Amino acid sequence: MSPRSRQSFHATITWLGHSAFQIETTKGKTILIDPWLDNPKAPVWAKDIAKADIVLVTHGHSDHVGNTINVVKRSGATVIAIFEIILYLQNNGVPSSQAQGMNKGGTINIHGLKVTMVDAKHSSGIDVGNNVIYGGEAAGFVIQIENGFTIYHAGDTSVFTDMKLIAQLYKPDLVLLPIGGCYTMGPSDGALACTFLKPKNIVGMHYGTFPRLSGTPAELKKCLPPPLKKRVRELQPGMPVRF
Ligand code: NI
Ligand code: MN
Repeated sequence: MSPRSRQSFHATITWLGHSAFQIETTKGKTILIDPWLDNPKAPVWAKDIAKADIVLVTHGHSDHVGNTINVVKRSGATVIAIFEIILYLQNNGVPSSQAQGMNKGGTINIHGLKVTMVDAKHSSGIDVGNNVIYGGEAAGFVIQIENGFTIYHAGDTSVFTDMKLIAQLYKPDLVLLPIGGCYTMGPSDGALACTFLKPKNIVGMHYGTFPRLSGTPAELKKCLPPPLKKRVRELQPGMPVRF
């Protein structure tokens, strides 16, 4: 590999289905977001992932907390989430040395990366059996990797005008937005979110897992103004893509 080709991408991103992503930086760090690793669309190998440096959890719902406890324990990763979810994880077997609580507006510098927690419009109860434990508020994350490339994972959310603030503050190069509808915004609202965020790359998530999450990247594209249409990348679960 020539030095030139080594510099021609910023990160390798693998969609693991639903809202789960694996991000590998060019400096060799691995980030997992919302690791529901055995979701219906996940590649079979995802549930055995053993390498991670950072695990981010956007909110308390089981389709986002997913396999967090096990993957944090076996990888030795640090899990970052809102304060209340961190308390829950610590009470359920995650060593406190591997758990880092934070809240919206805060930034954590870790492994040469900057992780900022931002707002999301959604609920965040931790569903355990027939009970719901208070999980704080739903959040999104802005991750600036070592080379400055900035990724915004919106978590579960509706569209909200403060996405303009996220654009102003962090200028995301890549946005990961829920587009399935029903529990989150769908394609047309997702398109509006893109006009607020003005990202260079757009990836849809939280669709296709179940029939009810019926939004698609094709619909998202249809709703976008022409300059943004070509910025949509449709990822296939388990297929790494360089950005
Ligand atoms: Ni949710
Ligand atoms: Mn969800």
